[in-house]
Amino acid sequence: MTLLLGHCNDEDMSRAFEIISTAFGHEHPYIEFVYPLHDTPTGRANGAERLLATRRADPHTTFLKATDTGTGKIIGVAKWNVYNGVIPEEVRKLDGDYWSTEDERELAEWYVNDYLQLRRKAITDGGGNLVSLDLMCIDPDHQRQGAGTLLMQWGIEMADKLGTKAVVESTTYGTRLYENFGFSLEQHVTMEPPAKWALEDGSRTQKFLWMTRPAKTKTVAA
Ligand SMILES: CC(C)(COP(=O)(O)OP(=O)(O)OC[C@H]1O[C@@H](n2cnc3c(N)ncnc32)[C@H](O)[C@@H]1OP(=O)(O)O)[C@@H](O)C(=O)NCCC(=O)NCCS
Repeated sequence: MTLLLGHCNDEDMSRAFEIISTAFGHEHPYIEFVYPLHDTPTGRANGAERLLATRRADPHTTFLKATDTGTGKIIGVAKWNVYNGVIPEEVRKLDGDYWSTEDERELAEWYVNDYLQLRRKAITDGGGNLVSLDLMCIDPDHQRQGAGTLLMQWGIEMADKLGTKAVVESTTYGTRLYENFGFSLEQHVTMEPPAKWALEDGSRTQKFLWMTRPAKTKTVAA
């Protein structure tokens, strides 16, 4: 199989969200609450609409795709956020009417804001300089075929070009891929929702691994 790296266009957002939904499945409460009913036609359409809105509005975002040249099918997507001397304004509210109750919206906002804490600190600590891998998802039928590796290269080259640190909130599946590119584990993070939303069975507990890759230091010729 030959894979081609490209930039997503507006029309790719439906397929991008379909891959995100199938790749994450139902293992992550973050995805369940932030993208309600993401495996239904309505949930998928809403997810695609939200990706499109981000693509159009966020100047720090780059959506990439890995396409199987034999079939023309997109088999993987990544979203890289590149901050180059700008500390973006913190947006703590979620737009849109995607939740059936106000309580569900508030829970989704809690997930997003808690999840982004370490990333926001890294952006601030770097004076607005950071490369952040926000999403990396490969179609479950096409994992372990090199698509993740291809989608990593763009962001790593960008981080090295800018001389910037890179970060990722990794799932357990992603750690090997990120280690291959020089990331190392800094922290196991366990997100427990506030008492009013917590469930004893742990089904609302979101875990991730905070991994970072130091800025490449420039070698100065003697
Ligand atoms: C994790 C993921 C992005 C890897 O993409 P991929 O295209 O399968 O990765 P590649 O084929 O380029 O393989 C890169 C490395 O990752 C390893 N890897 C891939 N999938 C893995 C998995 N499920 N568990 C453990 N290691 C895995 C490969 O063995 C390879 O390591 P190696 O070079 O030592 O052999 C993909 O499996 C995926 O989308 N998973 C579900 C969603 C997810 O968890 N995304 C990560 C979000 S942070």
